[in-house]
Amino acid sequence: MSEVQTADRARKREDFANAITKLGGNGQHWLRYYDYVFADVDFSGSTVLDIGGGTGYASYFAAAGGAKRVICLEPEVDGSRSTMVKSANSMGSIFDTHRIVEIVPRLLQDYSTDIQFDVVIIHNTINHFDEDACRTLSKDINSQRRYAAFFDMVSALITDGGFLVVADCSNRNFFGDIGVRNPVAPTIDWPVHQPPEVWARLLSQHGFTSPRIKWTSDRRLGLLGRLLFRNRTAAYFLQSHFCLTLRKSRQGA
Ligand SMILES: C[S@@+](CC[C@H](N)C(=O)[O-])C[C@H]1O[C@@H](n2cnc3c(N)ncnc32)[C@H](O)[C@@H]1O
Repeated sequence: MSEVQTADRARKREDFANAITKLGGNGQHWLRYYDYVFADVDFSGSTVLDIGGGTGYASYFAAAGGAKRVICLEPEVDGSRSTMVKSANSMGSIFDTHRIVEIVPRLLQDYSTDIQFDVVIIHNTINHFDEDACRTLSKDINSQRRYAAFFDMVSALITDGGFLVVADCSNRNFFGDIGVRNPVAPTIDWPVHQPPEVWARLLSQHGFTSPRIKWTSDRRLGLLGRLLFRNRTAAYFLQSHFCLTLRKSRQGA
């Protein structure tokens, strides 16, 4: 990258963080969190699909990272609030990226396009595609068939060699295992989640390879959290929140 491009990228990242702060969040926390989640992905010049993007923060982060076009699908269904599209559009006005990020109020299964995406993001959304099927996904063949339909759609939308980034909570959690409400994540419905290994195994049947699993720490805990809690053991006793990055295999590879 030239000096001008580097300065432009730094300015966009700053604008992204400032926009979140203006909306009442902590922009620097989000920036550091997404830097970690998307560490393997280069957004420069990419096309990005953010499925169930909510308030669109991941989409806008992609734009700050140099993506040339980002589609954020947000139908405001399971796992949503009715204000998500409005919030996502407000962010787009403040961060001034309406030409790059488009918020589309559609379900994945109702969305069609000619675009082949370099990066597909499914952040805290995969379990909401079909919550009933998700409960029994690791063992039940019918549930797996129902999810296979979603994965076929994702696979058709992503370019060969493209990145798929999935983040969610695993159902393997200390508090869930002993049947007690988790004090750090009291609202999580543990049975409606699956561990990253299950997602990786199922996605491997749809052409997704090279799974890489990371564990996240609470954004608000800062450096201490990043040093102490970004590992499987700590996650098991906290939120069990993971990030799984895969590549779509190149045809013939
Ligand atoms: C818990 S929110 C996550 C929002 C955002 N990605 C985040 O991490 O903050 C899950 C989102 O998935 C969306 N969703 C659920 N099923 C979907 C589907 N079939 N296609 C697209 N989005 C879906 C919901 O509308 C909801 O906003």
